[in-house]
Amino acid sequence: MERNPDRKDQVLVPADLTESFEPIVGQSVTLRTLRREDVDIEAAFLTGLSPESRHNRLLGGMIKITREYVERLTTIDYARDMAIAAALMLEGREVLIGVARYVLESGGRACEFALVIADDWQGHGIGRRMMEKLITVARSRGLESIYGEVLSTNHDMLEFCRRLGFSLGRNADDPTVTRVSRQL
Ligand SMILES: CC(C)(COP(=O)(O)OP(=O)(O)OC[C@H]1O[C@@H](n2cnc3c(N)ncnc32)[C@H](O)[C@@H]1OP(=O)(O)O)[C@@H](O)C(=O)NCCC(=O)NCCS
Repeated sequence: MERNPDRKDQVLVPADLTESFEPIVGQSVTLRTLRREDVDIEAAFLTGLSPESRHNRLLGGMIKITREYVERLTTIDYARDMAIAAALMLEGREVLIGVARYVLESGGRACEFALVIADDWQGHGIGRRMMEKLITVARSRGLESIYGEVLSTNHDMLEFCRRLGFSLGRNADDPTVTRVSRQL
């Protein structure tokens, strides 16, 4: 962990999680922790999502993407939670093309994840790479399981999760949502 004196509510930022790879030849994508100074590129990323991706990511909810909402998403307590961004340089500017995150459950043994990849970048192995990284971090922190809530109509995500070793379970209270989970 690296101590950043400029950040009062985000003091502990893991320093060693950055890696780069080429999902498309010649295009370097970097995975790194999401930071508070990413608020503008995170806002651009969210507003650039297709209605379908946004609907799937937000479980059908119509959340308004306000500055306050994006600030909350980019203010991570890295002592508990994790948020990994996929970023690349386009015309000299950094652009976000994916975010994978988890929040620790109150018992401290399990975490709930969320993942979204920009529409133009889906299907290039970026989501898999990000989930694998998230799982590695969660495991290294001693967590025992990871789970997520997926719209039951989101067959792409359910298939994605199956391929990553998650099991799929019914949500008795709400059949519109499927719970995906796996041991770490
Ligand atoms: C679902 C999502 C996260 C997948 O990310 P991605 O980067 O497109 O997926 P990847 O390219 O890494 O694919 C990983 C695996 O899932 C499979 N997969 C991905 N999309 C698929 C699809 N549409 N249909 C079938 N399989 C699919 C791939 O074949 C691949 O399998 P393999 O590694 O065994 O070959 C992404 O499409 C997305 O962000 N969707 C919109 C938001 C969303 O639904 N988020 C989930 C909210 S709970």
